[in-house]
Amino acid sequence: MSLLSQMFPSSPAFTEKDIPELSGKARLCHYLLLCERVYLVTGGYSGVGLEVCRVLYHRGGQVIIVGRSQESYETAVKDIKSNPGRIADSKPGSLEWVKVDLADLTTIHPAIEELLARIERLDVVWYNAGVMFPPVGSKTKQGYELQWGTNVVAHFALHKLLTPLLISTAASSPTGTVRAIWVSSIAHTRSPKPYGINFDDINYAETRRFLSWITYAQSKAGAVLLADEYAKQSVAGAAVEEDGRKKNHVISISVNPGNLKTNLRRYSSRLSNFLFDFILYPQRLGGLTELYGGLAPETGEEEFNGGYVIPFGRKGEIATYVKKGLTEACTGKKLWDLLEEEVKPYIYNRCES
Ligand SMILES: NC(=O)c1ccc[n+]([C@@H]2O[C@H](COP(=O)([O-])OP(=O)(O)OC[C@H]3O[C@@H](n4cnc5c(N)ncnc54)[C@H](OP(=O)(O)O)[C@@H]3O)[C@@H](O)[C@H]2O)c1
Repeated sequence: MSLLSQMFPSSPAFTEKDIPELSGKARLCHYLLLCERVYLVTGGYSGVGLEVCRVLYHRGGQVIIVGRSQESYETAVKDIKSNPGRIADSKPGSLEWVKVDLADLTTIHPAIEELLARIERLDVVWYNAGVMFPPVGSKTKQGYELQWGTNVVAHFALHKLLTPLLISTAASSPTGTVRAIWVSSIAHTRSPKPYGINFDDINYAETRRFLSWITYAQSKAGAVLLADEYAKQSVAGAAVEEDGRKKNHVISISVNPGNLKTNLRRYSSRLSNFLFDFILYPQRLGGLTELYGGLAPETGEEEFNGGYVIPFGRKGEIATYVKKGLTEACTGKKLWDLLEEEVKPYIYNRCES
């Protein structure tokens, strides 16, 4: 029933009209300076990410798009600026591009270091970019299976670099407003058994025959696990406590944006795309679902921390066996520790190198 309701969801309750103005030097940041709110979206120049950026921009947000193609970014800027979608009273913010190829870990640190030297705060980050069903054997520059490396490993590295700024922003912001959104999918319910991640052969390098959907599904279970684990770490690390509850920490949520008409199916056959077209929804609805996770007041409540959003903007439940892995086999912590070791060489301190 839950799967069906995720595949054929009802109309969104949270829409453009519910998103407040995001501009205004209304917030304190370092050294008592007043700063604009800042939003970062990976893969923000197409598909779901583009719709997230469209709304953020026209509601006055300072939007940073992380991606690898300048041409795609420039096309998106024209599209976003000329088309406010369903926002009647556009209050344009700003858009900028940070060049990162998530399939090459060496591109992340230099670009993000340069970005961090320029921005004073980071309010919400959407780890949205993704690749699905490339030919079996496709790999990242560092030799990771392409979907695992792009969707999970690279976003983890990015998150490690952004964490200090997220934490410092949260410390000076109302509780629940600073968030990390990990984009998952209904596909995580098809991730490998018993717990969603094939820890014995995470890159499927030793597995003789497999289909690329299994590594896509695993990568989307990875997003769920990292959201859960970071939620725990974030609460545990929160400095402020009031009425027995932690405050001013970063909220971490995973999101299934829905099944949508985007470029994600670029590697799928024409026939499959033709057939799927009948059950896919406009990408705007996926954008609203990701925005619900990042901006809705209720998703900023502590009860939502570590939770899962389903289309088109509701609280959902992750697959039972993936949840069981989190509680019985500590899969979130296990994945976190594994990735931490793996990305270490790519997250360096200039003084150490
Ligand atoms: N569409 C759906 O039905 C659906 C369903 C569930 C979940 N999702 C998730 O939603 C997210 C957004 O997907 P979408 O549907 O909007 O697909 P999309 O239109 O293909 O967008 C994916 C974005 O990721 C970027 N990307 C891919 N590889 C990258 C790399 N190596 N470095 C930097 N950026 C890279 C793409 O940039 P390039 O153009 O440069 O490749 C593109 O901007 C994904 O995480 C996907 O798994 C989508």
